[in-house]
Amino acid sequence: MATAVRHLMSTPPVTCDADASLAEAADLMNSHDMGSVIVTDGPKVTGIVTERDLLRAAACHADPLAEPVHLWMTANPDALDPDEDAAAAWASLTHHHYRHLPVVEDGILVGVVSIRDLLSVAQIRPADEAGTDLPRGLEGVVVAETTVGDVRGHQGFYHYRQYSAVELAASRPLEDVWQLLFDGELPDQRGANAFATEVAVLRTLPDRVASQLPSLASAGSPLDVLRTSVSLLGAELEWRPTHDIGQAELRHQALQLCSVVPTLLAATHRLRIGLEPVPPRQDLSYAANYLWMLSGEEAPTDHVRAIEQYLILTIDHGFNASTFAARVITSTGADLAAAITGAIGALSGPLHGGAPSRALDMLDDIATPGRADAWLRAAVQNGDRIMGFGHRVYKTDDPRSLFLRGVARQLGGPLVDFAERVERTAVGVLAELKPGRQLHTNVEFFAGVVMHTCGIPRDMFTPTFASSRTIGWATHVMEQAADNRLIRPAARYVGRPPPQLVPAR
Ligand SMILES: CC(C)(COP(=O)(O)OP(=O)(O)OC[C@H]1O[C@@H](n2cnc3c(N)ncnc32)[C@H](O)[C@@H]1OP(=O)(O)O)[C@@H](O)C(=O)NCCC(=O)NCCS
Repeated sequence: MATAVRHLMSTPPVTCDADASLAEAADLMNSHDMGSVIVTDGPKVTGIVTERDLLRAAACHADPLAEPVHLWMTANPDALDPDEDAAAAWASLTHHHYRHLPVVEDGILVGVVSIRDLLSVAQIRPADEAGTDLPRGLEGVVVAETTVGDVRGHQGFYHYRQYSAVELAASRPLEDVWQLLFDGELPDQRGANAFATEVAVLRTLPDRVASQLPSLASAGSPLDVLRTSVSLLGAELEWRPTHDIGQAELRHQALQLCSVVPTLLAATHRLRIGLEPVPPRQDLSYAANYLWMLSGEEAPTDHVRAIEQYLILTIDHGFNASTFAARVITSTGADLAAAITGAIGALSGPLHGGAPSRALDMLDDIATPGRADAWLRAAVQNGDRIMGFGHRVYKTDDPRSLFLRGVARQLGGPLVDFAERVERTAVGVLAELKPGRQLHTNVEFFAGVVMHTCGIPRDMFTPTFASSRTIGWATHVMEQAADNRLIRPAARYVGRPPPQLVPAR
């Protein structure tokens, strides 16, 4: 601590005269964000009144409007010299249990130093304020250990367990990846068959949920309905707190939840458009069955595979906001439905999962490739976000977007060509108008294009994302519950300094 007091003192000091009322002193502290007022007689320091004095006065029922500060101040306080070393000042304050001291040079008051000023120089905090200054949005902060997977933003790589997620999407069915996450291993053929049978029978909605769905289906967006119906599912199935159940029971609940979410979504969609829900089929894969339940028709194989690959790609993605939300809720010992309901809420925001339909809305609005440059330029200059671009972790191409662009190309069609042209323009406009921010296409841009091309209605884009992400969330819930400690961080209080007198009415 080689800093002199003059470099850390607050100046000019806040002063009042000895006859000022306690209420005036409190006002001064409040308006200057200070914990003390120096009492002066001309240039001479005669006392110091601090928050502590105000508290004592309040405890004695002193009338703050009538009581003068000189009755409550510390008279003739010690003072510091501005050239004194901060370490010596610290010793003086702590030795005498002072929290504030006037700084006097040649008999004239020049500033005031508080313990808080000294601590900020020492870069330490009292034990009850202990903590580290964190980047906004917790960017890059490690908050847990996980074996589920991770994202390497600068390499444009992410993985589930020890495998590249993109390779899994290229080579495996969704059920295999689901099993990898839940049980830690990719299955062989026999294991895959057993798992497929285990989950297919869980697709049917429990009667009490199915019977209530028609009255819920039009309450808000399909994602709102999912949020509510997952909560209902947990209540109807009487899922107990994760705190009170073992891993086997939690795994069974998680399997049922992940199996039933596509059924909930498809039924909701059909009820909203005045159609009867289509019951799930056990002979179809997760993706094929989802498309079947949405439309009542078997989807072409290339559509099934494209949607399956999209679903695999979006199962998990590091400690994103919704996954973190699920783990925080689980850490309280709450039940699985509570954790997933909270995660769905987090996913609903446009900065997280709400972007794919907005990306497609943008393509509609741009309408022709010739309008893209002017449209995008105007949006960025207006301070708007271009949906489907930028990512907290990826500072290079998002591997999901690269893969989905390939999937979209294979599906083909005019929308795909148009989207690629808009993408190229957007990347150029963002590089020019937001230089250095590394804004690349994210998963959402081509997700919308792929889902639209495969016949998924626009208002079902984010719910479809929620469906695969439920597998990831549930995996994290199980991991958190298996080795739990309540997640309870702290925030640095930066409001007006407490305690201050509660003003009379
Ligand atoms: C995903 C996202 C929230 C990440 O945000 P972040 O890491 O917190 O980045 P910031 O909000 O700090 O933005 C950094 C800068 O890049 C700009 N930026 C980020 N994404 C942008 C976008 N899509 N369009 C225009 N500018 C963008 C910000 O305006 C900011 O510029 P500034 O430095 O001039 O203030 C952000 O990129 C975004 O809003 N994207 C659009 C929504 C979207 O596609 N979401 C799906 C994510 S998978």
